[in-house]
Amino acid sequence: MTVGVLGAGALGQLLAHQLIEHGLPAHLLTRPGGQPETLPHQLIGLDGQTRQAELPRHPSDRPNPLSLVLVLTKAHHCLEALAPLMTWLPNSVPVVLLHNGLGPQFEAPKRWPTHSWWAGSLTDGALRLAPRQVRHTGQGVRRAGPLGPDAPIPPALATLGFESDPDILAALWQKLTVNLVINPLTARDRVPNGALLKAAYQPEIAALCQEITALGQALGYPEPAEAVRDRVLTVAQATAANRSSMLQDVEAGRPTELPAITGYLLAEARRLELPCPHHRRLMASLAPA
Ligand code: PAF
Repeated sequence: MTVGVLGAGALGQLLAHQLIEHGLPAHLLTRPGGQPETLPHQLIGLDGQTRQAELPRHPSDRPNPLSLVLVLTKAHHCLEALAPLMTWLPNSVPVVLLHNGLGPQFEAPKRWPTHSWWAGSLTDGALRLAPRQVRHTGQGVRRAGPLGPDAPIPPALATLGFESDPDILAALWQKLTVNLVINPLTARDRVPNGALLKAAYQPEIAALCQEITALGQALGYPEPAEAVRDRVLTVAQATAANRSSMLQDVEAGRPTELPAITGYLLAEARRLELPCPHHRRLMASLAPA
């Protein structure tokens, strides 16, 4: 049965292409009220080869027999984009939230409690070169797990190389720790990820990691600040030439995922009465005036 992909940005199109390459039908779920149509798309793979595919688009408010839904919208669009789908999607169809940041992973199951919610992360690099042309720039690690009771990984997710992770919230926290440092710093200074390896950034990175560690401890994700810093620097090194998703959003004048990344950390810190002055300053330097 068909996999629905909500959010047709670079990663959404990449996964739709990969599903079709594996012989699994995929639909890009588009804004409500439109007409179904099929349009030509291009993917430039890691091997530099260009592949063409006809990707069907289906309005998200029209019932459609789906076996799985992958949500690749930005964090701040996630709940709004899900609403038309939730009016008809059967409860048994797993919905997998794959955006950066935290927040909707707790909100969506509260808002639609009878659905089968999953969350995951993928660290692949992908760049949208034109509205229907994407380049896969880096193979990442893909993980997913249920937000409710334990369940076997849906076959289409396994086909896409997602590893099943029964403690997905801990994995999402680890991904968040990376995004909390790389995304706002690169967006503020308009530099590629690799710039953060320079000596001049290390005191600020160390201070941000200290604050992350203090909050992680309180939330039940204990880890030394050095472990957080090593993870951040390893990702910065591995993705040195990439422009982070937040930098791309800032450069394109789009809203960023700052509220689901630094905003989430600051809200939790406020709740737990933990000071986070470095993250607060970073947020202030990026928040729209
Ligand atoms: O959001 C991003 O850009 C990515 O999650 C990461 C890992 C920071 C690499 O650029």
